[in-house]
Amino acid sequence: MRTYSIVLLPGDGIGPEVTAVARAAMESVAALSGFALKFSEHAFGGASIDRFGEPLTAETLRACQASDAIFLGAVGGPKWDKAASRPEAGLLGLRKALQVYSNLRPVSVHPALAGKSPLRAELVAGVDMLIVRELTGGIYFGARQKREDYASDECAYSRAEIERVAHIAFQQARLRRGKLMSVDKANVLETSRLWRRVVSEMGARTYPDIELGHMYVDAAAMHLLRDPASFDVVLTENMFGDILSDEASMLPGSIGLLGSASLGDTRPGVFEPIHGSAPDIAGQDEANPFGAIESVAQLFEAGLGETEAAARLRAAVGAMHEAGDWTGDLGGTLTCSEAGIRLIQHLERQPAMAAG
Ligand code: NAD
Ligand code: IPM
Ligand code: MN
Repeated sequence: MRTYSIVLLPGDGIGPEVTAVARAAMESVAALSGFALKFSEHAFGGASIDRFGEPLTAETLRACQASDAIFLGAVGGPKWDKAASRPEAGLLGLRKALQVYSNLRPVSVHPALAGKSPLRAELVAGVDMLIVRELTGGIYFGARQKREDYASDECAYSRAEIERVAHIAFQQARLRRGKLMSVDKANVLETSRLWRRVVSEMGARTYPDIELGHMYVDAAAMHLLRDPASFDVVLTENMFGDILSDEASMLPGSIGLLGSASLGDTRPGVFEPIHGSAPDIAGQDEANPFGAIESVAQLFEAGLGETEAAARLRAAVGAMHEAGDWTGDLGGTLTCSEAGIRLIQHLERQPAMAAG
């Protein structure tokens, strides 16, 4: 039987809560789709600082590198905000070490969710976009200085770093509606002027079939709310992508809904919901696990090539939306763990549907 090794990094706060649901969903779908998963779980982020004094140990990194795919819950929390090495540094270290330079964050609005957005239902109807965020460069990884009364963070990009993530975005656009919007701040920043020049050259030379546009990030933040359905693929650098994707999570109505795939040129990829550890609701079994579940669908599809398994999982999530099986953030009554149990019930009802 096809067998994959999966590393689970539950992390902190609601991370372990949504990871438990993700794991149960993975096990259920694997059994239904006829492949096997071998899990190994490792402390990560704040949980790893507490046990080993650092957010990402060499042993955890080795286990990740030897796996087929990594599922990550979330890291961070007020407990470690003053730690010498923060939980977030472990996440950045993992992304860099694995060279997962493209972070794919799909944002779509299921028709049953149209009334859940703070935006008018008719504005968010039909939203289906993919944010491609550069993940291992830019201001997150530039040289930095820290003194008592002065600090600096350098933002740098090379042509090669821009080209490799832009190729991913152009190719995704080809698989979708053929539109790519590159977002930068080329009216101010040198990195953005290079970004725009490189992406434009690639569009003209290699992807003339793709309808390429450019927007400044401030205007993009506005257009995302003014006419969100007009976006197909959005390509942007690390920090702009971080901010715009949290904004975009309000189109379907909760940050708890969005998943992501962080991919490099080789396995393993890292699959994680876009939300954080949500200290305000941690430990209360209130978190929405759908972002984690969507990340599992991406793990199956982009991480393992198990597309049928991903479709099975997404169909079960769709059935839950249609039934109004939601957690509190969407006005539903389910706890996080109940949502997980309900999902498995929907999954197990499916084979008859799939065969029929
Ligand atoms: P957050 O995403 O954790 O929470 C923002 C708000 O959204 C909170 O009100 C929270 O309750 C809500 N929320 C988040 N996920 C939810 C879910 N699944 N269901 C329902 N509601 C949900 O962002 P924050 O509060 O700014 O950050 C908290 C910590 O998480 C920080 O330490 C931050 O660095 C970290 N963080 C980690 C990741 C990651 O691990 N990938 C991502 C973002 C933030
Ligand atoms: C995310 C998070 C991380 C980021 C933090 C926790 C380092 O916000 O995955 O979106 O900024 O990339
Ligand atoms: Mn973020």
